[in-house]
Amino acid sequence: MKIFLDTADVGEIHRASDAGLIDGITTNPSLISKIAGNRDPKEIYLEICEIVDGPVSLEVVAIERARMVEEGRKLAGIHENAVVKVPLTEDGLKACRDLVSTGIRVNVTLCFSASQALFAAKAGASYISPFVGRIDDISGEGMQLIHQIRQIYDGYGYATEILAASIRHPLHVVESMTLGADCCTIPPKVLWQLVEHPLTDRGLEAFLADWDKSGAEL
Ligand code: E4P
Repeated sequence: MKIFLDTADVGEIHRASDAGLIDGITTNPSLISKIAGNRDPKEIYLEICEIVDGPVSLEVVAIERARMVEEGRKLAGIHENAVVKVPLTEDGLKACRDLVSTGIRVNVTLCFSASQALFAAKAGASYISPFVGRIDDISGEGMQLIHQIRQIYDGYGYATEILAASIRHPLHVVESMTLGADCCTIPPKVLWQLVEHPLTDRGLEAFLADWDKSGAEL
């Protein structure tokens, strides 16, 4: 199970990467806009790609096929770790095929149904991003979608990796793992929630207090 960090915040990426916790990064136009200010987003993308030794998803902002392909080529040219993210629309699927045919890896994003996931796989996507949290937000069952896609991809032999996205809490990650998602992209806050446990903190505190009382030295 690969763990990606869902952020464009370089500080957060350094922290998670230094701890050896992440296999890649996903960004989106909202995340990069929050960080970029007056900086050229491409500079930040390059910085991110140089920190992490793994796939870094960079999203196009065009909505028409030819423009998406043009932007996708530019993004892919930033670094060998770049994976181009395109939305799951008719033009997005066409752009996916175009980019894949030139050897560029594509992450098809904003997936909300099993049928959409099927077409992304047929278009040659390396990754499909089902947004489980946003489905839960409207009283759907995001995890059900992960399960359906897993069955379809396994049943028909598609190699596209399932990248569980829009993760809201640790349970989403654990459930994605048990349902067979290949990767999960996680906001920094949830990543640290996965690592930490109050019983670990309490246990450590007690061990150290006992050790101090003993007066022993190592
Ligand atoms: C995935 O690649 C997206 O960046 C992300 O998971 C969207 O999550 P959100 O629903 O929290 O915005």
